[in-house]
Amino acid sequence: MNGQVESGHIENGRGGLVDGFGRVHTDLRVSVTDRCTLRCTYCMPLDATFKPRAELLTDDEFLRTVRVAAGLGIRTLRITGGEPLLRPGLAGLIAGLVALPGIDEVSLTTNGLLLREQAVLLRDAGLCRINVSLDSLREEVFRKIARADGLDRVLAGLAAAKRAGFREIRINAVSVRGLTENEIVPLAAFCRDEGFHLRFIEFMPLDAETKWSGEQVLSGAEVRGILEREFGALLPLPVIDPGQPAIDWRFADGGGVGFIDPVSHPFCDRCDRLRLTADGQFRNCLFSTTEWDARAVLRGETLPADVDATLAELLRGCVAAKRAAHGIGEMDFQRPARAMYQIGG
Ligand code: 5AD
Ligand code: SF4
Repeated sequence: MNGQVESGHIENGRGGLVDGFGRVHTDLRVSVTDRCTLRCTYCMPLDATFKPRAELLTDDEFLRTVRVAAGLGIRTLRITGGEPLLRPGLAGLIAGLVALPGIDEVSLTTNGLLLREQAVLLRDAGLCRINVSLDSLREEVFRKIARADGLDRVLAGLAAAKRAGFREIRINAVSVRGLTENEIVPLAAFCRDEGFHLRFIEFMPLDAETKWSGEQVLSGAEVRGILEREFGALLPLPVIDPGQPAIDWRFADGGGVGFIDPVSHPFCDRCDRLRLTADGQFRNCLFSTTEWDARAVLRGETLPADVDATLAELLRGCVAAKRAAHGIGEMDFQRPARAMYQIGG
């Protein structure tokens, strides 16, 4: 077995998960299910079909795989889906992940519908931070985007997360031209009142119905313009964590708002993240067209004693193959075969 894997405490940099462009990978997005209670237009098809449960990694398989990744330098985890709160026993899995040597922080992205019931459990499991996806505060627009009801439950979930004492609650809002312009100011006002950190995300070509077009991308700059007309000039803040894709801006009277602009301002050059899908595939990019099959190693012919070393090699190979950038907007851009809900945001 590789000594670095055994130690579980290598320093980032030499020996860590460094790709051909010198990017060091310390963050792993772990999708724990492809199921969801909503059918957001930018992510899922209305008639989504899901993987049989047997094809998803078990808790033990996730723990084993992430333990190996932590041994190679992964320090932070974000749990995603589908909708992660739909996974039975999620808090137990999170507690196991939090306890892995080398893992400093576990956070979660959720649609919030089940958060009221689970906020305290998740806090007790050691979850650090919660991101809640919310694009509109109006039931009819919520329904148009999510193609299901649930705004009241999201708001109740947010309130529960606050009561549970989560230190930083972020709201992710996807911006789509012709759909979300009128939601921007009310969302910002709500987040300023409630103390939630709002971030606008540009629409990426990861919708299952492949309706994305460049014209539908409502850029971060345009969203900022809409906010400035209402709240006055916004001031950019210095980037403190280069691995963080959001650029934060400050309202003149205090409080902030973030912009994740993967289309208009790709941040691939400072990308530090890798992904593990619910069915056990490593990906080096949201837009990977190749996957590295960890599940086959976990369940295949590999001798039990060699599984960790083989997983480590697999992950190194995944990192080594990472491309410089996603290439959205370039002539030879190819959409990945899987949509957002099957990859994990
Ligand atoms: N483009 C941009 N963001 C998306 N998300 C889902 N699909 C897309 C897309 N096509 C967002 C969700 C969630 C996060 C994980 O990714 O709203 O907040
Ligand atoms: Fe990283 Fe891929 Fe996103 Fe670029 S597109 S920031 S390489 S995950």
